[in-house]
Amino acid sequence: MRSAEWYAGDDRNVYIHRAWMRRGLPADALTGKRPQIAIANTASDLTPCNSHLDEVAEHVKRGIWEAGGVPHNLPVVSLGETQVRPTAMLWRNMAAMATEELLRANPIDGVVLLGGCDKTIPSLLMAAASVDLPAVVVPGGPMLNGTFRGVPLGCGTDVWRLSEEVRAGTLSEQAFLDSESSMIRSRGHCNTMGTASTMALLAEALGVTIPGTAGIPAPDSRLLVRAHDAGRLIVGMVGRDLRPSQVMTSGSFRNAIVTLAAVGGSTNAVVHLLAIAGRLGVPLKLEDFDDIGAGVPLLVDLLPAGRHLMEDLHRAGGLAAVLREVADLLDPDVITVTGRPFVEHLADAQIWDHEVIRSRDAPLQPHAGIAVLRGNLAPAGAIIKPSAASAHLLQHRGRALVFDSIEDFHARVDDPDLDVDADTVLILRGCGPKGYPGMPEVSNMPLPAKLLQQGVRDMVRVCDGRMSGTAYGTVVLHVAPEAAAGGPLARVRTGDWVTLDVPGRSLHVDADLDSREPSPAFLDALARPRRGWERLYVETVLGADTGADLDFLIGASGDKVSRESH
Ligand code: FES
Ligand code: MG
Repeated sequence: MRSAEWYAGDDRNVYIHRAWMRRGLPADALTGKRPQIAIANTASDLTPCNSHLDEVAEHVKRGIWEAGGVPHNLPVVSLGETQVRPTAMLWRNMAAMATEELLRANPIDGVVLLGGCDKTIPSLLMAAASVDLPAVVVPGGPMLNGTFRGVPLGCGTDVWRLSEEVRAGTLSEQAFLDSESSMIRSRGHCNTMGTASTMALLAEALGVTIPGTAGIPAPDSRLLVRAHDAGRLIVGMVGRDLRPSQVMTSGSFRNAIVTLAAVGGSTNAVVHLLAIAGRLGVPLKLEDFDDIGAGVPLLVDLLPAGRHLMEDLHRAGGLAAVLREVADLLDPDVITVTGRPFVEHLADAQIWDHEVIRSRDAPLQPHAGIAVLRGNLAPAGAIIKPSAASAHLLQHRGRALVFDSIEDFHARVDDPDLDVDADTVLILRGCGPKGYPGMPEVSNMPLPAKLLQQGVRDMVRVCDGRMSGTAYGTVVLHVAPEAAAGGPLARVRTGDWVTLDVPGRSLHVDADLDSREPSPAFLDALARPRRGWERLYVETVLGADTGADLDFLIGASGDKVSRESH
């Protein structure tokens, strides 16, 4: 037992480690024979989607005690997607680094990871991968469906939709504000197929949750049963020494990419999966998302690509029912935290509502997944989610209208004299990891009000930032290299002709970008942090095409600590 290095024996240092931990624990809890289990807990009042996780942790503790382990609540860095500025993504790697170090530094043998809101499960998985101690995820679960004026209200997606209706003049400001109190009906994370829902489902597809857990709504008592089960399980995993590196293999990432496509998941999953794989040393490339995912049908009819919400997905049979339809595309050998093959638990799954989960022969769309584009504007790649885009824009040629920053965009977008029409390609730069910094979700630029009023509801947009997983539109994202790292996006000009060809997987500008200098206005608008995390981040962050981790955090350091503290 790893914790025996702290607790076994009778020298002075062991005395110190034990004595300060006693506080009501029986002596046999700290002998080095019972697994010490951390509950890495992202509960925080400022991460409202995770604020119920303390209750979940209590049920995890019950299971740990029951199985003979000793539980320890370990609050870790928590990121509230809707609250944190300039973007929670700036802090994902910090959360991952802090959690990694806490897990390694403490006398623990295994960890239960409690996350929910967008960046929390990715940062926990990055940390667990780098320490490689036995780990199991309990996702906090989605909120219940909200409704407004008799129709379901989807988190995020309907904020974007309703606010565009106000700008178009088809919804009153008062009605928009009235919907605010209906948006968040219960505890839990966003109920659309945004990043939180996606990452919970992908954690299950990667094998790191107990099968059948992801997608249980946060207020559902069955989640607490699963939390209890996870507590029991982690103690057994320590006994079997089953580590993340044995569970999250390249086959698991294949399963995750198939899942991402079949559920119509968030584009943010691309950077998160690349980053997690980077920690594990699993070779995963941007193109793998296209190669593995492109042939997968979209089977889940959830916002933003469809109509329903996470509660409906769970009622309809959940992830197992979805993946049973595409079981032939999954790796048959990879195991889950249970030690058994992932595909095994799909055998009994059934679809209970074919409106929400489609069968393989009647998919929502025959080809889902993420398309990876290349071209002189994105030599290291860019992505687009065709299922959230407009079919008529997937092959498009238009003149560029370039914005040097999001502030520049907001200052000009609603100017009645702005030279823009429905065919214009809106380009926003300086929104990559280094540029903003932190790669915010600003790529789905709101459309110019004058075009909204003419009935335009989608335009081609291109950006080196991200888009909320709850958003939609024909938006080319994660353009790499980003403009702030010297990418050609810094050298495109208003008026250049841009050609987007999603079926041909290309994004091209009719200009010799290499012979141009970056726009001086763009260089002026760039962030240049002088101190603290932001400085470390800007100096060391890698591109979106490899997961936007810090260059020195790639890989694992394991669980060894060589020196004593006293
Ligand atoms: Fe927390 Fe959407 S804001 S999951
Ligand atoms: Mg988000």
